[in-house]
Amino acid sequence: MRDAELARVDVVEDAYVLLEDAKITEVGRMRELRAVDGDVEELDGRGRCAVPGLVDCHTHAAFAGDRVEEFALRAGGASYEELHAAGGGILATVRATRAVGEDGLRAAVERHRRSMLRAGTTTFEAKSGYGLDRETEVASLRAIAAAGGVPTWLGAHAVPPEFDDADAYLDYALAEVLPEAAELAEAADVFVERGAFDLSQARRYLEACKAAGLALRLHGDQFTEAGAIPLAVELGARSVDHLEATSDTGIRTLAASATAAVLLPASALFLGRSMPPGRALVDAGAAVALATDFNPGSAFTESLPLVCSFACTQLMLSPNEALAACTVNAAHVLGRAERKGRIAPGYDADLLLLDVPDWRYLAYHLGGDLGIDPIVAGRRALP
Ligand code: NIG
Ligand code: FE
Repeated sequence: MRDAELARVDVVEDAYVLLEDAKITEVGRMRELRAVDGDVEELDGRGRCAVPGLVDCHTHAAFAGDRVEEFALRAGGASYEELHAAGGGILATVRATRAVGEDGLRAAVERHRRSMLRAGTTTFEAKSGYGLDRETEVASLRAIAAAGGVPTWLGAHAVPPEFDDADAYLDYALAEVLPEAAELAEAADVFVERGAFDLSQARRYLEACKAAGLALRLHGDQFTEAGAIPLAVELGARSVDHLEATSDTGIRTLAASATAAVLLPASALFLGRSMPPGRALVDAGAAVALATDFNPGSAFTESLPLVCSFACTQLMLSPNEALAACTVNAAHVLGRAERKGRIAPGYDADLLLLDVPDWRYLAYHLGGDLGIDPIVAGRRALP
């Protein structure tokens, strides 16, 4: 959804939702509810608000270890890029992730899934990208699928230490990892940035992934505007994510395209960077989605409600726009717009009951307790 449509949230007071076989079959006002035949289990939502289950379309949930030391160093003034250049940052998590093996990764992704669910996320995408060798990349994608996530192969996240340069690493990744990754993942992603992959390397990686049948995503314009948007649009990518450094030209190019803008304000805040131009992107008519970017280095949060708060207070989106951006539009980025992200007949029965007086508390109550009671595939998902 774009423009004014993004702000359209249909609020039904005193509502009922009928679920059958993990699907939503009817939505309406209680007083119009007809007698329903058969064995009906009732869940009393009186005094609560229902919103669609949240869709996190950008996470790096397949990681082990943490970066708490780095966090403390950054608080003392070290920059994220300096730590990365010194072999810390992403590469520190690569070492920790390689060390835990497939079982350890499965346990980690499952733990992260549960934390995301407690924060209201009922559908999540997760990227590999902390393995950067065949075994660990494949194990990451399998672990994500086993936890019910939507797997993205972030084969071009960083250059691992056993390779001298990005081109040599890409030779390996495309020859040795892509064939299996293409079987396991739905999309491919690349980090286009100084110190990561340049534009011609990104093009080479994405073209090979596209030819192997993967949808395309890009980490672009996080620190520098290096041409990720025109490349994404040219290749028909589903999204460009981050966009903290995007200029007016980039905003116009993205808005005129079918490629979505995925904004990650928790990451901008966590790294103390400027915010992406959220309001300008929405006003220009771009398809804007919001996500956590959950990862141990640049955005250690599983909470989309917190991201909605940042969207309203930092990006100047309305609560309505923020909700649409992490439900309907996020589902669109994951190619699931027909099934996820709405409380409407025919959609998957994923919704949240919130113990709040107004659904906009989702964004308003900054880091607060929303009393989230998630329903996934028609069943209460937390005890
Ligand atoms: O989206 N920018 C690249 N990748 C991640 C950060 C990964 C990390 O720091 O471990 C991101 O912010
Ligand atoms: Fe990311």
